[in-house]
Amino acid sequence: MSAAKATARAHPNIALVKYWGKRDAARILPHQSSFSVTLAPLEVTTTVQLGVAAGEVELNGRPATGRERERVLALLAEVEAEAGRALGPARVVSRGSFPMAAGLASSAAGFAALALAARVAAGLPRDPAATSRLARGGSGSASRSVQGGFCTWHRGERADGRDSFATQDFSEAHWPELRLLACIVSGEEKEVSSRDGMQSTVDTSPYYRAWTVDAEAEVPRARQAVARRDLAALGALAERNAWRMHATAFAADPPLCYLKPATLALLLALPGARGRGLPVWFTLDAGPNPVLLTTEPHLAAAEALAREAGATDVVRCAPGGDARLVDTPLF
Ligand code: PMV
Repeated sequence: MSAAKATARAHPNIALVKYWGKRDAARILPHQSSFSVTLAPLEVTTTVQLGVAAGEVELNGRPATGRERERVLALLAEVEAEAGRALGPARVVSRGSFPMAAGLASSAAGFAALALAARVAAGLPRDPAATSRLARGGSGSASRSVQGGFCTWHRGERADGRDSFATQDFSEAHWPELRLLACIVSGEEKEVSSRDGMQSTVDTSPYYRAWTVDAEAEVPRARQAVARRDLAALGALAERNAWRMHATAFAADPPLCYLKPATLALLLALPGARGRGLPVWFTLDAGPNPVLLTTEPHLAAAEALAREAGATDVVRCAPGGDARLVDTPLF
């Protein structure tokens, strides 16, 4: 691998305490901290080569356009600024091991892998905090995919964002029997992106401030539940945090509803299943596809429940490791 070329791989993550809303949209600085776990075996691989004749950005086999391309170029410009020298045009190729439309946070994994590969290609030191800050600029949740296991993205206080990055609380080895089931109930592209939806919620939802105060207080409680490997406590917390994020979004003007009827069918099947002794809880990002939390011995029963409730596909995941360099460039 030449010095100006590097390839990195990262897992997506699912937030157990969600990030929903920016205090600075340009720098991607959140109003509140958030907490997540990475999802193996899902991963995105990204190769960066600096100093090529003509720049090119390719995501999952097609040239990146619009906002997506701008975010990649802005990230590379930040690397150049930190390196303090011209790095020339870059070729970036990124590929996921899972479908982009499935709502499985592929942009988080993609920007985490890009941030790591770009820093290494530019000769910058390995520094998880700096990599997380850089990834944050591509997509907020990407800040939490640089390190594996369970991570907190600290909201930070500074206007320049230097203290807004994620740190690891527990590695993936802390809770190996935890399982996360990504349940596909709708393959449709969502009509309102997370980026636009959260901005509209900040601007118009009368519940927004209450959301930020509550979510900030839930982060240390989520960490404590993970420290004890207490699935019942973590599951209950993840569910109420997801309901509260969505409730805040329902109250936006115009209202934002990311749930489909099939989403609700699955969510409403869970209390009964728990009553019958199946330990299973959900979380839900800004899309229709829930992620279930359970443990290894209950995986098959939780998957069967999801399919009975209407999931057409279920992807079995477990906590994954750090973003890492790999020796298999995509070009
Ligand atoms: O990082 P973004 O812009 O894709 O926003 C992510 C927002 C949620 O997925 C809904 C919550 C989260 O913390 O990941």
